[in-house]
Amino acid sequence: MKPVKVGLMGLGTVGGGTVSVLHRNAEEIARRAGRGIVISHAAARDYNPEGIDGLGRIGTIGDDAWAVVNDPEVKIVVELIGGYSPAKELVLQAIENGKHVVTANKALIAMHGNEIFAAAQHKGVTVAFEAAVAGGIPIIKALREGLAANRIEWIAGIINGTGNFILTEMRDKGRQFDEVLREAQALGYAEANPVFDVEGIDAAHKLTILGSLAYGIPLQFDKCYIEGITRITPEDVSYAADLGYRIKHLGITRKTEQGVELRVHPTLIPERRLIANVDGVMNAVLVQGDAVGPTLYYGAGAGAEPTASAVVADLVDVVRTLTTDPNNRVPHLAFQADALSDTPVLGMDEVETAYYLHLKVLDKPGVLATIAGILGDAGISIEATQQKEPLEGQSVVPLVLLTQRVKEKAMNAALAAIAETDLTADEIVRIRVERLM
Ligand code: HSE
Repeated sequence: MKPVKVGLMGLGTVGGGTVSVLHRNAEEIARRAGRGIVISHAAARDYNPEGIDGLGRIGTIGDDAWAVVNDPEVKIVVELIGGYSPAKELVLQAIENGKHVVTANKALIAMHGNEIFAAAQHKGVTVAFEAAVAGGIPIIKALREGLAANRIEWIAGIINGTGNFILTEMRDKGRQFDEVLREAQALGYAEANPVFDVEGIDAAHKLTILGSLAYGIPLQFDKCYIEGITRITPEDVSYAADLGYRIKHLGITRKTEQGVELRVHPTLIPERRLIANVDGVMNAVLVQGDAVGPTLYYGAGAGAEPTASAVVADLVDVVRTLTTDPNNRVPHLAFQADALSDTPVLGMDEVETAYYLHLKVLDKPGVLATIAGILGDAGISIEATQQKEPLEGQSVVPLVLLTQRVKEKAMNAALAAIAETDLTADEIVRIRVERLM
């Protein structure tokens, strides 16, 4: 059988990795897919050919992505440009032209996936997006296929490699935030706009996708609660360690009786959990299914070839299904398109977690009693307290509290009441705590 012709848009980190992997492993890939896969047409504005093996084998390399999606020879379009536009328009045009699409673009899927999947369904083509979440980890395949028997109870994932790299370096080497971020950028881990990494937007894109795959709900990025890592200080990292916890930036989605939680924020997790020991640019996703129990998926969440591994796996999947009835393919969001549910995504007020609180308080009698009294009146039970040494040159002392689980709205009210007492200086640091059991 003749090889399948692929059009590639983007020759950056992941695009270059995809060309190299397809070239290096061509024989194995063809044995798996049932026929060869060749890149017949690529488009990139500018790219660095260094380190990309097999570039010379690409039929045509131009700078016009529209020429790729409109090339009649191309059967599958790989979108590795990133961003919302023109990626969205190009993908919709490829679908309109009857081509299958493989993309690593989490922003595109999280924001416009509902529209893109509807268009693909209409045209009987597939849009595959394994590389959009957790780089090389086949988490989408695991959720869509491997765990199809389960009711998913919750998912907690370290799904931004850049953020995890920064937190790890801060904890282990006491390095400065900005310096580590620059290194992540140089290594090709960070987004084009690194604010997406450090403010949690990239993780929220990925979590939105995971939530829909887990619960069969439409993609609702706008309902995801997002908090990044920019306000994490070395003191909080160290105080959390004293209590036996690590601070990780987690994406968490959980099904409760009221709806689905969708939240991205720094989280204290017990240091003995496997996921607490996932360091550097590595990602990990912990999935709790009712039948299987906990399962953990670990691997490189960013980088050229790890992400290319997922892109090429999608290509193999699409090639294998080229001859199947479009209605019998694995559905885009794991559940059949006409069986998606309207289970609401909950606001943060309704979310229940335990909390780590770090207050800077006046060092005088009765302060702790007043604060404990306010928390008690709000029905918040304290699990541990620690008073730390005052920081150099400061007259206030750091007071660290761990609470038991409580709804966020009760905690918000209690923190507002504490702030009104004038016993604290600065903002109260509040980091959610999850035991992940
Ligand atoms: N910027 C992303 C990360 C790349 O650091 O995880 C992979 O999506």
